[in-house]
Amino acid sequence: MQGFQLLVFCCIWLQAWAAKDYLFKNCDQLGFCSRNRHYRHQVEASGSHIPYFVDPQSIKVEDKVTGTILKKLELNELIWLPFELSLLKGDNIRFKIDEDRSDVQVKGVNPKRYDETAQAIFDGPEEQKIESLEKVEVTKEKVTVVYGNQDQYKAVLDLNQVALTVYYNDEAQVSFNSKQLLNFEHYRPQKENEKHVHSQLELTFDMWKDSFEDAKHDTRKFGPESVAADLVFNGFEHVYGIPEHADSLSLKDTTETQWPYRLYNVDIFEYYAESRMPMYGSIPIMIASKPDVSVGVLWLNSADTYVDVRKGKDVTTHWISEAGVLDLVILIGEKPASINNNLGLLSGFVGLPQLFALGYHQCRWNYNDEDDVLDINKKFDEHEIPYDTIWLDVDYTDKRQYFTWEPDAFPDPIRMLRKLDHTGRNLVILIDPHLKLGYEVSEYVDKAGIGHKDALNNTYKHHCWPGESVWIDSLNPSAQGYWDKLHEMSTENKVLGEAENIHFWNDMSEPSVFDGPETSAHKDNLHYGNWEHRSLHNLVGKSFHELTYNALLKRYEDKTRQRPFILTRSYFAGSQRTAAMWTGDNMAKWEYLKTSIPMVLTSNVVNMPFAGADVGGFFGDPSKELLTRWYQTGIWYPFFRAHAHLDSRRREPWVPGEPFTGHIKDALRLRYALLPAFYTAFYESSTNGSPVIRPLFYANPENPDVYGIDDQFFLGNTGLMVKPVTEQNARSVQIYIPDNEVYYEYTNSVPGKAIKDSLGSVKKAVSLGDIPMYIKGGSILPRKDRYRRSSKLMHNDPYHLVVALDKDGNAEGLLYLDDEESFRYRDGDFGIAAFEAKEDTISGNFVSGNPEFADQLEHIFVEKITVLGADDVTGAEISQDGKTGLASVKKHDGYVEIVGAKLRINKSWSVKLQHSSAHDEL
Ligand SMILES: *[C@@H]1O[C@H](CO)[C@@H](O)[C@H](O)[C@H]1NC(C)=O
Ligand SMILES: *[C@@H]1O[C@H](CO)[C@@H](O)[C@H](O)[C@H]1NC(C)=O
Repeated sequence: MQGFQLLVFCCIWLQAWAAKDYLFKNCDQLGFCSRNRHYRHQVEASGSHIPYFVDPQSIKVEDKVTGTILKKLELNELIWLPFELSLLKGDNIRFKIDEDRSDVQVKGVNPKRYDETAQAIFDGPEEQKIESLEKVEVTKEKVTVVYGNQDQYKAVLDLNQVALTVYYNDEAQVSFNSKQLLNFEHYRPQKENEKHVHSQLELTFDMWKDSFEDAKHDTRKFGPESVAADLVFNGFEHVYGIPEHADSLSLKDTTETQWPYRLYNVDIFEYYAESRMPMYGSIPIMIASKPDVSVGVLWLNSADTYVDVRKGKDVTTHWISEAGVLDLVILIGEKPASINNNLGLLSGFVGLPQLFALGYHQCRWNYNDEDDVLDINKKFDEHEIPYDTIWLDVDYTDKRQYFTWEPDAFPDPIRMLRKLDHTGRNLVILIDPHLKLGYEVSEYVDKAGIGHKDALNNTYKHHCWPGESVWIDSLNPSAQGYWDKLHEMSTENKVLGEAENIHFWNDMSEPSVFDGPETSAHKDNLHYGNWEHRSLHNLVGKSFHELTYNALLKRYEDKTRQRPFILTRSYFAGSQRTAAMWTGDNMAKWEYLKTSIPMVLTSNVVNMPFAGADVGGFFGDPSKELLTRWYQTGIWYPFFRAHAHLDSRRREPWVPGEPFTGHIKDALRLRYALLPAFYTAFYESSTNGSPVIRPLFYANPENPDVYGIDDQFFLGNTGLMVKPVTEQNARSVQIYIPDNEVYYEYTNSVPGKAIKDSLGSVKKAVSLGDIPMYIKGGSILPRKDRYRRSSKLMHNDPYHLVVALDKDGNAEGLLYLDDEESFRYRDGDFGIAAFEAKEDTISGNFVSGNPEFADQLEHIFVEKITVLGADDVTGAEISQDGKTGLASVKKHDGYVEIVGAKLRINKSWSVKLQHSSAHDEL
């Protein structure tokens, strides 16, 4: 669903595509960004900086180290900045600098610096994340903290420089303020501004006003209040993360551009396919990796933020936030996945989705009415294409009033939902935070005082889809009860009734404000607690989908206990716990297909794996070839949805016709066959943060050549390596083989030739139907091959295991099972089947949290095993339940298929491969 463009009439629409930068501020146009960049240039040029030092007398060592940093102004006046150095769960070190504003009084607003971002990111009370520091040494020069179960970590705070260096195995890995870019714009009354500004080092540009046209009424009650510092990643060549940007996975050097990476959630319709401009969501997490060490930085700030990246022998980054406290966590571990695990210990892991949510989602703006919806639903079956969910964009509502249905088009939505449910299908409807003035819901929000407020503390009224609207303030605890009521599962609820197969899409939640500065809310708006919007802008979208999530938990509480499904456009660190995201309004062009891969990978490496891009491209009409290639790529997005703009032609999978429809259908069926692998990857991510699709450096951190690759990835731990085709008229692709293990061609899921000792780039011919894939030797991939209309109908289907033997003839893999929809897995209703191939025997072992759950799997079997790399097999002996028997073996070139086995998934079993004995024949 796109935003602002509706105001731009069709005739100038195309021009608008090329000329929207004017809506967004670059660094030079933003006071706090340009002031801090200027400061950096002055520090670099002159070698001097504003003195910051820790008062050694102030240091106290308890659970954490606390004290005061003094900032010395040009006229020697001192500013007090309390700091904390603490250890958090997962061996993560936190450094926080606040400002003592106890004497500050600014009318009509909370005078403190906003310090609730950490609590929004963490998945439990902040206090419970703190671990007691055990080994602390304080001298006049420094504070040294040693931690980790083998004392492998050390953090050293230099008191004279306020520089913090974190060591792992005695090597400095990350340093804070080693370049002296720490800048804490302290509070001062405007009339005294001059004596607070360092005349040589600091600019005063836009300290007290905003000269950007759309933002010139910003009251800027506090004047300058930015926080900034440098973070150096020692000896690292690449850094990743800090989404959302339409950019490469490995971040680029930005120091010579007007666009450092900006984190500021905005409705950036028609974004560029390659840019550092802000987008709909932001996650202030950066990670870096080298062969034996990985590191991460979590910047706990939700204000408008810029990050400048400079690449050299080290990567030097400069973090600049407009307001809030300076607060960050430094994470260090051996492998990239250790960082994901450590992050998850703080901010929680991805919520395990219902299985249907990993199926295919069919969306467009709009399916017009009930007949249209049911007709699309039927056509999938006519074409024997699986799908799980159909979506309705804004116009299903009556006059764009959420919590209503357009009465002529959808006279009986509950009936429609029941019809969809016959084949296990779901409906997703859009609910946005803006509420049209003049109907029950908005009137309640206004009267109850639970809306966003403007700078004068009146309900904020501006424009969005329905015209003049109010915005629910999801940070206000009183908003929850009302939102719960609107989502209640009851016959009295005339909108959602007791339907169980309806789910939600929270869009426009940056929030998008059509007539607001930079398409969003005014920075001097007020939220609950009298906090300025400026200080917490980036977490507003997250608070909104959490409001919905909490309402849905109550909706399902008594009946289904199902896991809520919510798609959000705006997100922040912590969003992974309760929502999926997509990359917003892309275009039906090849470059957007290509950029979708690094975008989804970036989201995956910062613990937000449930991510996808609109298949086909939102704006415009894709060629049939592009549409086909987009499906072949989209089946790998953890969140897999096709979507199209109101003005785009229909493009459901059967529309392009043959041969395209056949290829799209093959791709969709492959996604469904791989649902067990996707679901298992999500299960793993929900317990340890590992990405669902992951860049090659996760598998091969020892290989320096993989760190820049972002058009190729692995699916979870399955060993399946994919390089989607994203070029027009492609006849071949170059695939990078990251090590010398055996890799088996698996194009279109038919095993092909094996290659070994092929480290480096290999060329593979492709036709329009081909999705280039390899399976790495050593892996076992679970599939379900039967075609069904939806994932729900696959529940009891048998499995097919693909065993890819490594050079030594071994392999292993996992399969996670539960009821695929409820929270009962948390009470032990789940099982894990572990598969292994070793010494010519393939075996399965099952463990469950609960024997009753294991009983429910009575009728689920492995019915087929394909063994790659075992071509001289002549027979297979099965052992199960103390009985043995023979299975039939089909031989192919380079692989065998063992069929007719009926191996119980909830038991131990083994299959011994028999070979034509080479000895006998000799
Ligand atoms: C704004 O109004 C609310 C009541 O709706 C009140 O609780 C709050 O303190 C007011 N804020 C300011 C800054 O006056
Ligand atoms: C598997 O299911 C069968 C049938 O209900 C049951 O008898 C058996 O105990 C289950 N296996 C395990 C390991 O619980």
